[in-house]
Amino acid sequence: MTMPKFYITTPIYYPSGDPHIGHCYTTVACDSIARYKRMQGYDVMFLTGTDEHGQKIEDKARDKGVTPQQYVDEVVATFKKLWSYMNISYDRYIRTTDDYHVESVQKIFKELYDKGYIYKGEYTGKYCTPCESFWTESQLDADGCCPECHRPVKEASEEAYFFKMSPFADRIEKLLTETDYLRPKTRATELVNNFIKPGLEDLCVSRTSFTWGIPVTFDPKHVVYVWVDALSNYCTALGYKNNKYNDYDKYWPADVHMVAKDIMRFHAIIWPAILMALDEPLPKHLAVHGWITFQNKNGEAQKMSKSLGNVVDPFMLGERYGVDAIRYHILREMALGADSAFSNEIMINRINSDLANGFGNLVSRTVAMADKYFGGTLPETRLEGDFDQSLKDCLLSVREKVDKCIDETRLKNALEEIFVAVDRANKYIDETEPWVLGKDESKYDRLASVLYNLLESIRIISTLLSAFMPTTMPEVWEQIGANADICTYENAGKFGVLPANVTVHKGRILFPRIDMDKEIGELNAIIEKNMAEAKAKLNADEAAETFTPAPLAEQVTIDDFAKVELRVAEVKACEKVKKSKKLLCLQLDDGFGGRQVVSGIAQWYKPEDLIGKKVIIVANLKPVTLCGVESNGMICAADAPDGSARVVFPDQTLPNGSKIR
Ligand code: MSP
Repeated sequence: MTMPKFYITTPIYYPSGDPHIGHCYTTVACDSIARYKRMQGYDVMFLTGTDEHGQKIEDKARDKGVTPQQYVDEVVATFKKLWSYMNISYDRYIRTTDDYHVESVQKIFKELYDKGYIYKGEYTGKYCTPCESFWTESQLDADGCCPECHRPVKEASEEAYFFKMSPFADRIEKLLTETDYLRPKTRATELVNNFIKPGLEDLCVSRTSFTWGIPVTFDPKHVVYVWVDALSNYCTALGYKNNKYNDYDKYWPADVHMVAKDIMRFHAIIWPAILMALDEPLPKHLAVHGWITFQNKNGEAQKMSKSLGNVVDPFMLGERYGVDAIRYHILREMALGADSAFSNEIMINRINSDLANGFGNLVSRTVAMADKYFGGTLPETRLEGDFDQSLKDCLLSVREKVDKCIDETRLKNALEEIFVAVDRANKYIDETEPWVLGKDESKYDRLASVLYNLLESIRIISTLLSAFMPTTMPEVWEQIGANADICTYENAGKFGVLPANVTVHKGRILFPRIDMDKEIGELNAIIEKNMAEAKAKLNADEAAETFTPAPLAEQVTIDDFAKVELRVAEVKACEKVKKSKKLLCLQLDDGFGGRQVVSGIAQWYKPEDLIGKKVIIVANLKPVTLCGVESNGMICAADAPDGSARVVFPDQTLPNGSKIR
């Protein structure tokens, strides 16, 4: 019998900065669904990846003095590290810089052009000359200036290719209003009124103003602009129009694309239009969630942003509370469609009430009693009693409810359903009072039944929870005398699976209670430090805008300039000069056997900041001795607005000794 297939995708993230808790939400949500579906017996393909082209990446790489490829490689490594840390079970990771994707996108672009859906036109927008960037009206800052440098922009045009949207308007409207493609459906009206009713605008799909993108094969001064490149990943990752994979027929169309509301329009309108133009089947569902915002001290919700310093770091939270507690918290708080403010208080309360007191306590109390009264192994004698049937009824109804929530991408509700069962089981302990039964040996048959029913409840609950908290549940299984073979989806629909004489194993406290006051103090200190640093950076940026450069010196001839030998060199070693607060001593590979240079930059650079970096040196300065150390040349640095000197870093790929002319 062939297994049914299930294909689920996250957005492919921009590697323009490190991932944060917002990226984790979508990825953890998709991971939990993928795990659940695998447990149900589906052949799952779970795809995630990174969207690596574009002007922003090109600019960031230039600022760092590395190539765009080097830049994305580094950030992608952090994304992958985070996904492995968060226990994300993706089956495939696509990078839009992968050769096979590039090949497919070029073919897709050409096909759309050949079919007449892509045509050449003129792109007009607001252009910032210093930043060399086009912006749309809505991207401009409050003063109508460039959102990056806040200088005035001007209307400008460049040649570009456009994708015709109008042929698809009717079909897309029907898709949004008459099918259950979009979740939640309530968002359809907003899309239809804002974008379809006023007449769908054609989409600009190429640029000539930057080069870090996929070249258009038949007009290579153009690169494919953002969405045709990015959205196609969902197909190219399966082998669509490439030979890297052969999974397209098997997995396409996708069962679920999950995204946040920021990119809903592209997935609800543009992606279906591209697929219609290509004559390919449409994905089955688009699940749209809200934003995780940051709740500040005054209780206000702020957008998480690096420049405000309020970005919640998943590594830091995972280290403090455990990855599963974080996974649980974000999934439990976020309803499909709505925004959710991230608050440390709510997170800690949630972990304490649901995980430490609710589920953790259920496991530890049950295992401890089995240990205390029966030395860990239950006797096989039983006596049914009050409350047993009601407990079983509740537990046997959970799986179906969770199935439905998963099928409708409502993970918060799925967890709520599971925790109804946790509460029911805890209530069963209060109702049956096993500690009273334990005082009277004649009631041990009943006690054994109560504990067995509790272990069975934990088995069902932990099986269902294992899709959401995959690290901790196997530990629970170990404690209740079960294992992965017993804790299957199929068995989660049955009561009475554990052997009658099951043996429990007391283990560690799974979810330790968190000391709210202590933790809040520490977390607030971390965020305040981050915010202060971000503010200082913002101030420095502002100072840069009002910076007056030193007056220009008198003119010299080219021959005068030629007397100064500027060369590229690489810092191999660096240390502070003893007895000096200002000086660093650097060992350089200058392409001519190496040299030592002393530089007055110790106030602003630590030795480790410089090692491995390329610098520019004045190579033909006569040697001098500074604080007893010989210096053969000078490192080039520039005046910064705060009065410091900043080293001028050339392109890291330049060879040592390369002459600057
Ligand atoms: N590269 C595009 C997507 C192309 S998909 C074909 C992009 N990248 S992104 O890095 O900006 O990622 C946006 C997605 O990251 C959101 O749609 C959402 O899934 C996730 N999130 C990033 N920050 C988030 C929050 N603060 N809250 C919730 N989700 C967030 O757009």
